[in-house]
Order: sequence, then structure tokens, then C-alpha cells
Amino acid sequence: MKAKLYVNKNFTIGEIDKRIYGSFIEHIGRAVYTGIYEPGHETADGDGFRRDVIDFIREIDVPIVRYPGGNFVSDYNWEDGVGDKTKRPRRPDCAWFSIETNQFGTDEFAKWVTLAGTEAMMAVNLGTRGPEEAKNLLEYCNLDTDTYYANMRRENGFDKPFGIKTWCLGNEMDGPWQIGMKTPIEYARVAAETAKLMKYADPDIELVACGSSGYDMPLFGEWEETVLEHTYDYVEYLSLHQYYNNRADNTAEFIGNAVHMDRYIKDAVAICDAVKAKKHSDKTINISFDEWNIWYHFVNDTSNRWQEAPHINEDIYNFEDALLVGTMLMTLQNNCDRVKMACLAQLVNVIAPIMTEKDGKAWLQTIFYPYMYASRYGRGVAMKAVSDCDGYKTGYSDNVPYLASSVIYNEAKGEIVVFAVNRSLDEDMELTLELDRFGKCQMTKHIELYSDDFKAKNSPDCQRVAPKELDVKADRGEVHKIMLKKHSWNMMIFTL
Ligand code: AHR
Repeated sequence: MKAKLYVNKNFTIGEIDKRIYGSFIEHIGRAVYTGIYEPGHETADGDGFRRDVIDFIREIDVPIVRYPGGNFVSDYNWEDGVGDKTKRPRRPDCAWFSIETNQFGTDEFAKWVTLAGTEAMMAVNLGTRGPEEAKNLLEYCNLDTDTYYANMRRENGFDKPFGIKTWCLGNEMDGPWQIGMKTPIEYARVAAETAKLMKYADPDIELVACGSSGYDMPLFGEWEETVLEHTYDYVEYLSLHQYYNNRADNTAEFIGNAVHMDRYIKDAVAICDAVKAKKHSDKTINISFDEWNIWYHFVNDTSNRWQEAPHINEDIYNFEDALLVGTMLMTLQNNCDRVKMACLAQLVNVIAPIMTEKDGKAWLQTIFYPYMYASRYGRGVAMKAVSDCDGYKTGYSDNVPYLASSVIYNEAKGEIVVFAVNRSLDEDMELTLELDRFGKCQMTKHIELYSDDFKAKNSPDCQRVAPKELDVKADRGEVHKIMLKKHSWNMMIFTL
């Protein structure tokens, strides 16, 4: 099969906001406890933070981490997770039917983000609580005033405010599973009033309003429109969430889902802009795609209710999952003019690229690799590349192109980085890449992720799916011919 990709230096999508490579740590299962936090573990520091996990997170260079949920936040009292650990209450967490010990909370998270080289995206509880508690948490985290919650933070050992810039107004408030689920107007009003109060307290923060919890939610469209009509003046972002699965065991259909994700983003942007037009506003609402991934391998066992750190949603990913994650990252990059933040959900143990054994090692899932390479190398300007290749029909699109790609120009490094997946299940692809107006360049790196088994998985002791560095040709030029193996993920660097 042949495909062409034409890139002209003058045609760009926009500068990538590095926060599109964000992730998510929720109080669920073993994400926090025995994930990022395990006092007594051989790599744990004095605060109980697992350094082996931090090393992997630093390898990805995760720019932002959403916390503390997720569904968990809708039943969470943030006050339980600050101050003296011996006085913190144990609570039943009714989002995940687990025992929450509160040994890790806002205080620990604020310390941990610095150590992990990342930044916090904090969510407030708009399920069982409201504007007042949100404002109090914001005061605790960000205010330098001589006031009750700011002083409580000081007493707890944090003289300087945490300075958390990004805040989510609740989580998936349209979902019937959500504690404190709301109708569009109920959420729109409480989100607007919470946002107003939070901005009064700290005008420097940025706020994310909940969009629908997936493209196929029954109120999609109506929800976004109502929410934005009420919150438009106070928020900067609308959230999108989407998980895919291959329960139907149809690999071609499954690995094309980034096309579905692209449509979801464009439709959500259209609604943001429709509200903008109705309001004659100069302000643009952007997208925070703050939960996305594949989720289905693990079947939850309801017999493990009311345990501390139970095994919940510990999906073990395979090779085809890595192909889809790789192409979803390209979709985020190719929509970087409007998607400014995104969070791979989640980061450790629960539907995650990094896994840990309690008292044991940390290890890498298949999806770690496309995520790590996109985050490390996908920084700069996303180019408006034009491709020419055949496609195939799926239930959600008449044309899923066999070539999935994104092209990032990093001017500072003098590099053009091409991410490409050949979605064909049985044919290699000869890709002609034309890099116009950049001057001559040379391919200096070609990383490939490939397996002949779509269902191949990694485990603590075996990295069956791991990237390979291929030999590259030494010629310089504007046109490059590259072989992309059937169903492979690739990253190629061209040095100017
Ligand atoms: O990421 C797991 C869960 O998925 C989150 O708690 C929730 O927001 C979503 O439904």
C-alpha cells in the first residue's frame, strides 16, 4: 500500500500546549495507595511516595495531573485529607465502594506534584457539596491571606500557598452513576455560582466546566449548550471524556476510534462557538479532554467492597490498545488549536500506563510507550499535514484512513517529528513524506512499536511489547520514503 503526507512549513494548526499530555490520579483502587503512595516500600521516601513510580512519571514528563477524581470527588470532603494524619477519618467511599483512609490528601498531593515534576489540576465536589466548600478549598490552597483556611494550611506546615491554577467544577455531573447527578440547568447554575465565587476569591485561576461524560450520552449537545450559556463568562474550558473498548473483538473498527474522537472534539468545539456567537462574545472556550483511554479488560468484582486499596479496574493493555492510544494522541495534537489540556485516565494501576506490585516492582504497560514518546517529542507547532491514502468503513465513519499521523515542528531543536500508525491489518505501507519549505533534512531516528499479536501484553517480568529503534538512511532531502510495517506505531525525527 502507498500513502503520501505533504507538510508545508507555512501551514500550521497551532502551538501545542504541553498540558495535552496530562494524566489523572483518582482515589480509586490502587492508584494512590500502593500506587504512588506506599510507606514502607523499598523505594518510598520519608513521605511514603514511591520513587520508582516517580521515575517513570518523570520519564513521560507528565505536565499536569488531575486529582482527586473522578467519581470519587463527588462524595469527598477535602478537609479529611489535610493536617495531622493520625486524626484523619476513615470513610466509606460510595463512588467505588472502598474504604478511604485519607492518609493521602491535598497536603500530600501538593508535595507529590512537585516531586513528580508536574502540576496539579484540582477538582471540587459539586455532587454532595457546593460553592462554599469549593471556595474554602481554594482558600486553603491558593490564598496568602490572614484567614481561617489559609491559616489552617500554614498550621499544617505549608507557609506558601500551593498556587493551583487549574480547577474542575465537579465531575461527569450528567452521569446517572455520579453522586449528586444533575440536570443540565441544575449543574449549569451551581457551576456558574461556584465559578463566580472562586474567581472572586482568586481571579488568576482557570476553570473547567463539565461537558457530557461521553459523546454518546443522551443529553450531549443540550448539556453543553445549557452549561455554557450559564457559565460562559466564568470558565475557560469545557471538559470531554471518552473511553473506548474492543468488546466486539473487531480490531480494524477498534483501532480507528481516533476518528470518532476527532468528530467528538469538533462537535464540542462547534457548540462552544455557537454559544460564543449567540452571546456576541470575544472570548473563546477551549477544550479540556480530561479523561480519555481504553477501558474494559478488567471485570470488577463486587465481593471486594469496603476494602482499602482493592484491585479495581486494573486493565492489562495489549498491543492493539497501544495502537489506539498512539492515534488518540495524534488526534489531540491535530486539534491543538482548541484542545489545551487532556488527561490520559489514569496514571498508575487503574486503567494506567504504569503498574505497581504492592511491596514489589513498578512496570510498564504497552500504552506507556506511545504516551511517553508523544509527551517527550510532541512539543512545538502541530503542522496541518495533508495526507493521501486509502481508507476503510466502520460503524462510525465511512472513511478511516489507513494512515494516522501528526507532524510537529520543534523550531528550537531544529526537528520535525512525525508520528504515524499504519492501520492496515495486513499490508505494509510505503509512505512518501514531502517536507516543503523547511530546507533539506535527514531522518535521524525511527522508533517502531510492533507486534504480530494484537493481544500481546506486558507483565512485571516481560516487556513483550516494547519499542525498537530502526536503522535510518543518511540521505538529506525534502522528500523521504519510509516503510511503515502493517499495524505498527512509529515516531520519526527529521533533523534540519
Ligand atoms: O477514570 C475512571 C472513572 O471514569 C472516573 O472516576 C469517572 O470520571 C469516569 O467515569
